[in-house]
Amino acid sequence: MTNRYQQITEDLRKSPRKWLVTGCAGFIGSNLLETLLKLDQTVVGLDNFATGFQHNLDEVMELVTAEQWARFTFIEGDIRNIDTCRRACTGVDFVLHQAALGSVPRSLEDPLTTNAVNIDGFLNMLVAARDARVHGYVYAASSSTYGDHPGLPKVESEIGNPLSPYAVTKYVNELYADVFARSYGFGSVGLRYFNVFGKRQDPDGAYAAVIPKWIGKMIRGEDVVINGDGETSRDFCFVENAVQANLLAALSQPEKAAQVYNVAYNARTSLNQLFEHLRAQLAKHGVNYDKAPIYGDFRAGDVRHSQADIGKANEQLGYKPMHDILEGLEVAMPWYTQFLR
Ligand SMILES: NC(=O)c1ccc[n+]([C@@H]2O[C@H](COP(=O)([O-])OP(=O)(O)OC[C@H]3O[C@@H](n4cnc5c(N)ncnc54)[C@H](O)[C@@H]3O)[C@@H](O)[C@H]2O)c1
Repeated sequence: MTNRYQQITEDLRKSPRKWLVTGCAGFIGSNLLETLLKLDQTVVGLDNFATGFQHNLDEVMELVTAEQWARFTFIEGDIRNIDTCRRACTGVDFVLHQAALGSVPRSLEDPLTTNAVNIDGFLNMLVAARDARVHGYVYAASSSTYGDHPGLPKVESEIGNPLSPYAVTKYVNELYADVFARSYGFGSVGLRYFNVFGKRQDPDGAYAAVIPKWIGKMIRGEDVVINGDGETSRDFCFVENAVQANLLAALSQPEKAAQVYNVAYNARTSLNQLFEHLRAQLAKHGVNYDKAPIYGDFRAGDVRHSQADIGKANEQLGYKPMHDILEGLEVAMPWYTQFLR
């Protein structure tokens, strides 16, 4: 039986559309770019390289044909500039808005810049997309919006108080999206990502995500520090699941309404379990890490447990994540071992 995602990708191949991917030089954005180009779509990418890299774009170029790469136009620019956003939206069918400053600790250290990019920039993109009359607007929301709500698994309608400036910005995105649907009839879909991982996720820097950071350290034989007691848990979501959710959301756009969906796998992995998974997966690739983890302080602004109910995305979008954490790590491991040395 063909599922909705297969159906959508087949339809797109037959009648290609024009997409805008903001944050296309970043982790999730470059994975979206790769998938869309492989489906013979026309793609405009917008990025200012704040946390993205030219080498991510170069890598995508290597993975697609010359003909597919020729359908990509890159705009180096900042979403804080409305004219840039308008230029990027021109003639576009679907917007996948990923550009933002991620990371809870970064937002605690520099709330002003996080606010400017994630709220002002987001609003610029909404206005530009509304005025360009795009057919679909999908944006990266975040599981951080659940804040201190104790419920597990997380359901879209029940959120708590935000625990960081970053979480505030992602929640404000949802509020603006909702108001744009009510005030201007501009529909949109917010995807609340839960700890996405996979190839091209930046392993370096103070704000690196846990999976590429630990893999890099294990490959180099360095100490791995676990924040807290290691029983903090997350619903790790392989990037191909997030790509699937974006395409489904773009093509299932609600009429004049704003929707939000959890994008995760619906499983919980503790940091202690993650450490052992990574150690075991790396061993299969000839990397034997025999150090024990070092336990540090809990990190400010972090939620203790996170797991998503993905029933709404499944029912309304046809979202069916194809890879659990172990399958995702297995698919991504050749990339990690090649690039994180
Ligand atoms: N990775 C996750 O687990 C996760 C979880 C929840 C939400 N998100 C959200 O998903 C989106 C993508 O995250 P990612 O993990 O790919 O991060 P990333 O940092 O790899 O990608 C973000 C991209 O946006 C670009 N960017 C930043 N500021 C910009 C600006 N002012 N103008 C233009 N481009 C700008 C960066 O250069 C980068 O290429 C973000 O909105 C993030 O908040 C990610």
